[in-house]
Amino acid sequence: MTDRKVITEEGQVISKSPPPLPSHIAMIMDGNGRWAEDRGAPREEGHRVGSEVVNRIVRCCRRWGLKHLTLYAFSEQNWGRPVDEVGALMTLLSQYLKEQREEMVERRIQLRAIGDLNKLPSWVREQLLAIIEETSKNQGMTLTLALSYGGREEIIQAIKSITSQVRRGELDPDHIDESMIQAHLYAPDIPPPDLIIRTSGEQRLSNFLLWQSAYAELDFLKLPWPEFTESHLHDACLRFAKRERRFGLTSAQMES
Ligand code: FPP
Repeated sequence: MTDRKVITEEGQVISKSPPPLPSHIAMIMDGNGRWAEDRGAPREEGHRVGSEVVNRIVRCCRRWGLKHLTLYAFSEQNWGRPVDEVGALMTLLSQYLKEQREEMVERRIQLRAIGDLNKLPSWVREQLLAIIEETSKNQGMTLTLALSYGGREEIIQAIKSITSQVRRGELDPDHIDESMIQAHLYAPDIPPPDLIIRTSGEQRLSNFLLWQSAYAELDFLKLPWPEFTESHLHDACLRFAKRERRFGLTSAQMES
């Protein structure tokens, strides 16, 4: 059967049929700042274009039928960036939430967030929590925004919560296992990512989903996030489908 092509609202030619999809894709949307600087523009312009790419990619994943999409939108360490850049990112996030609320409701997207949300300015946090609440029953796709997020910080808060149960005598430390740690993460019910894509040529996780990424397949792309398209995502899914995931076992065991 020939793969028919369609032209997106943004004029891109993409494959009509969805690629073979993992259950959960997570993305490190890197390279906005450098993309802008290379064009002599302020870094904020890179983030602005980056947020348009977020729109397109979310829409595409929903159309293809992806179950879970997680986007690293603001790390715990990003609070250390210049005040103006942090402010611009918060404003973009707020605009994104305002503009996409209706679409999330219509397309039955469930919005979630992971991270230390208390650090967000109250005007962003309240907006975020309202949409999370409004979309909480949606079954279409889970879109999780990692905001004020750090993988180490997530593990630390899980350890604190578990040790306080031990201190109160409610938990025998011998009973601490993998599933208990998982249960104390920010979003225990979301399955771990199958595929983590990072743009901009850096080959590292930068404190993203450290616990959850144990068996994730990693795909590093050279291009910066503002240049990432549905077509690149399609190709990444095809590459993913060719990987052999063994989870510490042998090929023969995986086949049986
Ligand atoms: C990394 O690029 C990206 C970020 C720190 C923020 C990502 C934000 C967006 C894509 C837009 C806003 C998000 C939403 C959900 C509306 P960088 O600035 O570190 O790039 P650099 O490595 O080139 O400096």
